[in-house]
Amino acid sequence: MKNIVLVAPPGGGKGTQAEKLTKTLGIAHISTGDIFRSIVKGTYSGSFPVAEILDYMNKGLLVPDDIVVKITLDRLNKDDCKNGFLLDGFPRTVNQAEVFDKLASDKKLDFVFLINVNEDSLIKRLSGRRSCPKCGKIYNIYYTPPKKNEVCDEDGEKLVARSDDNEETVRKRLEIYKQETFPLVDFYRKKGVLREIDGNKSVEEVFQQIMEVIKGK
Ligand code: AP5
Repeated sequence: MKNIVLVAPPGGGKGTQAEKLTKTLGIAHISTGDIFRSIVKGTYSGSFPVAEILDYMNKGLLVPDDIVVKITLDRLNKDDCKNGFLLDGFPRTVNQAEVFDKLASDKKLDFVFLINVNEDSLIKRLSGRRSCPKCGKIYNIYYTPPKKNEVCDEDGEKLVARSDDNEETVRKRLEIYKQETFPLVDFYRKKGVLREIDGNKSVEEVFQQIMEVIKGK
């Protein structure tokens, strides 16, 4: 059983690596960003302040800690997390990490991976990101394009860009990452669970770096 956290800037490859890692390791993938997008679409069960969540996301701001912590803890109690889980995008503030440690003290984290990527590459990755609205597969028109122009390889759906991948919101998301998530990196470094990964390499090379650390433990 492995419990993993991925920390990376917007566009840093959390979702891309999470998909490969959870398939390989047979553990649950919990993306708080994906959960919020499902809530906004109306496909996540429960009662949530939808307009408030959408407003935070569109402005590139973090959804308040009380909302994200409750959703994540509820999700972690589902059966598919019993064999391990990968948290993609949570925690992203020191407060979220502290509350998680307190309220989920039975869920010990084995690895917190920090994927470092240069800022210029992040902007290019986010402007080129497309995803399938049906199966969620992530592509990039510059680096990992679909076989046919703007259409999903798996199910032929027309690919879409995320509404928060516009220039203004991306800049805000990067600013918030520096303000809120840099202190979280120090928090995990001091605990001795942080492993730094060079995210400027290809998708496969980043994946291999992470797997080597996991296998080495
Ligand atoms: P979230 O969806 O988590 O957005 P994010 O953190 O900004 O990260 P992204 O999803 O943009 O990027 P990623 O790291 O997953 O990169 P990807 O693999 O797609 O959160 C959205 C919003 O929800 C937040 O802004 C906030 O409002 C809210 N939220 C979520 N969690 C929260 C929390 N804990 N607290 C409060 N609010 C929260 O890759 C990007 C692109 O690059 C893709 O096109 C991909 O194909 C490409 N790519 C990936 N790896 C490589 C590579 N190695 N080489 C070349 N291209 C690559």
